[in-house]
Amino acid sequence: MSEIEKKLQPPLEKIETELKNRFGKRGEIKFFRAPGRVDWLGSHTDYNQGLVLASTVNRDILVGARIRKDRKINLYSMNLKDELKIELKKIKPLPIPNPHYWANYPLGVIAELSKNCFKIPGLDLVFDSDIPIGANLSSSAGLEAVTLEAILGLTNQTMTRWEKAITAWRAENFFVGMPCGILDQFTIFITQKDCALFLDCNTLASHQIPVRFDQIELLVVDSGIGRSLVKSKYQERRRECQLAYQKLRTAGFKIRSLSEIKPDQLKAVEKKLSPVLFRRVRHIVSENQRVLKALEAIGKKDFQKLGELFYEGYESGSKDYENSICELDLLVQLLRKVPGVLGVRIAGAGWGGCLVALVKKPNWELMENEVRMPYQNKTKRKLSFFSVKTGIPPGEII
Ligand code: GLA
Repeated sequence: MSEIEKKLQPPLEKIETELKNRFGKRGEIKFFRAPGRVDWLGSHTDYNQGLVLASTVNRDILVGARIRKDRKINLYSMNLKDELKIELKKIKPLPIPNPHYWANYPLGVIAELSKNCFKIPGLDLVFDSDIPIGANLSSSAGLEAVTLEAILGLTNQTMTRWEKAITAWRAENFFVGMPCGILDQFTIFITQKDCALFLDCNTLASHQIPVRFDQIELLVVDSGIGRSLVKSKYQERRRECQLAYQKLRTAGFKIRSLSEIKPDQLKAVEKKLSPVLFRRVRHIVSENQRVLKALEAIGKKDFQKLGELFYEGYESGSKDYENSICELDLLVQLLRKVPGVLGVRIAGAGWGGCLVALVKKPNWELMENEVRMPYQNKTKRKLSFFSVKTGIPPGEII
C-alpha cells in the first residue's frame, strides 16, 4: 500500500460509515479527492489579467459519493457537522447568513452542470477535509473541484481540465456570489504532480514548473484570524482596479488591462490617478514583475532570492494593496527574526487567514519560542503552522 493510500484509508472508512448511517446502507459508494492550493506569488493579479505562480498542497478534500434513485441531493460536511437535504429542482443559492452556507459550493457546481445540459442524478455526498477552512488555502475551490469530479465520475461524463476549472469558477462567481479570479480553480485542476503552475491569466497559457522540496520548505502560518472582511474588501479592490483602468484608458493609455502597464510607465500613470488608485496599480505592476523574477529564481535554485521576492510581495500587498491586518504584520515581524526564514508573504486574498513562509530547514523550537509564544501572548489568538508540499490533481480514489 502506498503512503498516500495509507493516509487515506482511515478517513475513507469514516466517510463510508457516516454516509451509510445518515443516508442508508444500500448502493455503491465511490471516493474522490481534490487538493487545496497555495499561491507562491501573484497576489490579486488574476482578475487583472496578470501572472500567477501557485501550487496545489498535499492536503485534500475527500468525498464519498453515491447515486440515488430519487431526485434528492443529500449533503453532509464532517468538518462542520452539517447536513442539507434538497430536491434537485429546488436548488438555488442559500442566502447568507445561513448555517448551511458551505453547501452553496457543491450546489453551485450542480447548478452550473445542469445549465450546461449535464445529467445530474440524485446524490448522497459526504465530505471530509484536512484543508483548514477559511485559511486562504482554497478549501472552497477544493469543495467545488471534488464535487465536480464526483458527479462526472459517478455518471461517466467527461470534461477537459480547462472546462472543469471554468465550471468551478462559474459556480463560485455566479452561484456562490464571490467574484473571484481564476487562480484557485486553475491551480487545482491544471497543476501536475510535483509542479507549480505559472499561469498567464490574460491568455490562460500555463507552464508546469517542477519544484522539489529538498532544500526548502513551504510553511503555512495560520494567524487564527478568520477572514470576515474578505468578501467586501475583495470587491472593493476589484472596483478600484476597474476604476483605475477606466481612468487610464480615458487618459489615453492604450492598455487592455492594468497588467499591460510596464514598470517604466508608472511615473506617467501616477499623474493620472488618485494616490490610492495609484498604489493599487503599482502593486499589480510590481507583483507581475515579481512572478517573472520568481520563475527565474526557481530555475536557478536561488531560494534566497525567492525569499526576498516573498518579502517584497508582502510589503507591496500590505502598503500598496492594503490586504494585511495588524496581526499578520506582527507575525511577519516575528518570522523575519528567525534564522532560516527566507521570506514571508500573505496567502490568497489576505485580510486574515495565513501567511506563506519560505524556510530553509525550519527550527521548530525557535518557531515556538520566537513566534508562537509572543504572537499568542500579544494577540490572544491561536497560531498554527505546518509545512506543505505539492499535492495530487483531483480525481477518483481507486
Ligand atoms: C482569492 C481569490 C483568487 C485571487 C486571490 C488573490 O483567493 O479566490 O481568485 O484573486 O484571492 O490573489
